[in-house]
Amino acid sequence: MAKILITGGAGYIGSHIVNLIGGTDHEVTIYDNLSTGRKESVLNGDLVVGDLEDISKLEALIIEKKFDACLHFAGSIIVPESVTDPLKYYNNNTQNTLSLINLCIKHGVNKFIFSSTAAVYGMAPGGICSEDMQVEPINPYGKTKLMTEWMLQDVAQAHEGFEFVILRYFNVAGANVDGRVGQCSPLSTHLIKIACETALGKREKMYVFGDDYETKDGTCIRDYIHVDDLASAHIDALTYLLKGGKSTLCNCGYGHGFTVKEVLEVVKKVSGVNFKVEQGPRRAGDAPVLMSKAEKIGTVLGWKPKYDDLELIVRTALEWEKKLS
Ligand SMILES: NC(=O)c1ccc[n+]([C@@H]2O[C@H](COP(=O)([O-])OP(=O)(O)OC[C@H]3O[C@@H](n4cnc5c(N)ncnc54)[C@H](O)[C@@H]3O)[C@@H](O)[C@H]2O)c1
Repeated sequence: MAKILITGGAGYIGSHIVNLIGGTDHEVTIYDNLSTGRKESVLNGDLVVGDLEDISKLEALIIEKKFDACLHFAGSIIVPESVTDPLKYYNNNTQNTLSLINLCIKHGVNKFIFSSTAAVYGMAPGGICSEDMQVEPINPYGKTKLMTEWMLQDVAQAHEGFEFVILRYFNVAGANVDGRVGQCSPLSTHLIKIACETALGKREKMYVFGDDYETKDGTCIRDYIHVDDLASAHIDALTYLLKGGKSTLCNCGYGHGFTVKEVLEVVKKVSGVNFKVEQGPRRAGDAPVLMSKAEKIGTVLGWKPKYDDLELIVRTALEWEKKLS
């Protein structure tokens, strides 16, 4: 049994880890300001409502609970917003994470798991992203995440005993297969969620941005990973660190992808609704193809995904979306 601090555990991804961790003997505390998360999504553990910026509150909690590990999900995640309001992102994703890491070092929380992103790869040449390739994020969101990766790497060098797992997520999608939690934010920019909202009549129509990329049907290709598989990757990462595993960085994706048009066809098939899709121009900064090189996480952490199935991803997302209506 370990004592675990989960920041951002009331959000989309964090709530799936909190749900899954309920099946283990770990004791969890969730620290979340509920800015985009919801308290109803926290199905296990103790929820402490607080902001990462409130350092004294966070420090008191860390001193009281004597955590063994921190899983850090809290952050701001909307790429276009990071372009128009970069300081929000440098503050919430970089500066607040710096404070959190600082408290972990000060109070002996020596295992740290960090939610990074494929956005650190930028326009990855060839579109297949491997962990050891050059990273060059092209928006402030990706840069703030990369800065945290650098902080963790430097801190681990300087402080013996501090070990981290950085997981670079690809396109997270779907909802818990048992329908217990899912994605709640009405402001989501995720393709599958928006398509499900449109299929259910919550949006009149949706847009495809760009159909002249050099892909099989002209639309962008992404690597969609089911959120429950992502959750199990965190449990594997935690087990790895608690058993004495050394710091590591892994992609978290399936290693193959689908075009936007293919995804929309599946949403139409699963929902049975031929919803309205309009063609829009390319968006600045969209890489034509982004897929993970996916072997390392299996070799190092022993991760075995169970839900690599686009129809299942869409079905779970759609069922969850119906519950939100
Ligand atoms: N969703 C994706 O596809 C994706 C992809 C790559 C990486 N990530 C990363 O995964 C993490 C979780 O993303 P998500 O999709 O669950 O987002 P989300 O917005 O649903 O969850 C973020 C959670 O953090 C909380 N939070 C934000 N700022 C906080 C602060 N200052 N103090 C305390 N709590 C705060 C929010 O209330 C929310 O519950 C983020 O760090 C994100 O960058 C997400």
